[in-house]
Amino acid sequence: MTRGRFIALEGGEGTGKSTQARLLAQALEQQGLEVVLTREPGGTPGAEAIRQLLLAPPGEGWGARAEALLFAAARSDHVEKLIRPALERGAWVVCDRFVDSSRAYQGGAGGIGDDAVRALHQVGSDGLRPDLTVLVDVAPDTVAQRLAARDGDASDAIGGRSTEYHAAVAEAFRKIAGVEPDAFVIVDGNGSIEQVHERILRAVEPVVEGAT
Ligand code: TYD
Repeated sequence: MTRGRFIALEGGEGTGKSTQARLLAQALEQQGLEVVLTREPGGTPGAEAIRQLLLAPPGEGWGARAEALLFAAARSDHVEKLIRPALERGAWVVCDRFVDSSRAYQGGAGGIGDDAVRALHQVGSDGLRPDLTVLVDVAPDTVAQRLAARDGDASDAIGGRSTEYHAAVAEAFRKIAGVEPDAFVIVDGNGSIEQVHERILRAVEPVVEGAT
């Protein structure tokens, strides 16, 4: 049995990742592949419970270190119970955010640092990496408009952080993708849903061709 392939979609808030993850999963299914579409934080009952704690924190909220540990714990459960078993039975996994979100949000913007996030990922998930990470990059003005339309005043504990925090997240994503060009492809997320979908399909084509 050939191992499946693991594709993660990454980007800041309002970049359209979730819609694009769904469309990518559908397109891969139409090619006859078994596809598991999932998201982080979440994807398993345990990780979804941790998601609630992270996005609607009890009390005064989490410090940066506790937050990083909770994301790593949620990911550990997700990898052990859902992602690895799927890959081992030959299924493809399309994941809306993965460890590079922790590197950009907690490591970069949150100040924990990349080495610490990677160390937590090593302990929690044996350092599992996607076969390809698609970074969806959208102009900041477009993001602001989409978020106003989507969230109104109702963003969560992380989405609702300052403009500076989110600018640091975007900067960290670009930096990580820049130093690991083999692991990432940066896709222009400006334009219609269909245009961005076509770009993502082209970006994952080498992975599909390499697997079939
Ligand atoms: P979600 O509603 O899924 O956001 P989005 O639609 O923008 O993907 O909430 C996930 C939030 O958690 C989002 O603000 C990014 C944040 N996050 C981290 O800070 N670190 C992580 O490792 C992950 C997976 C998400």
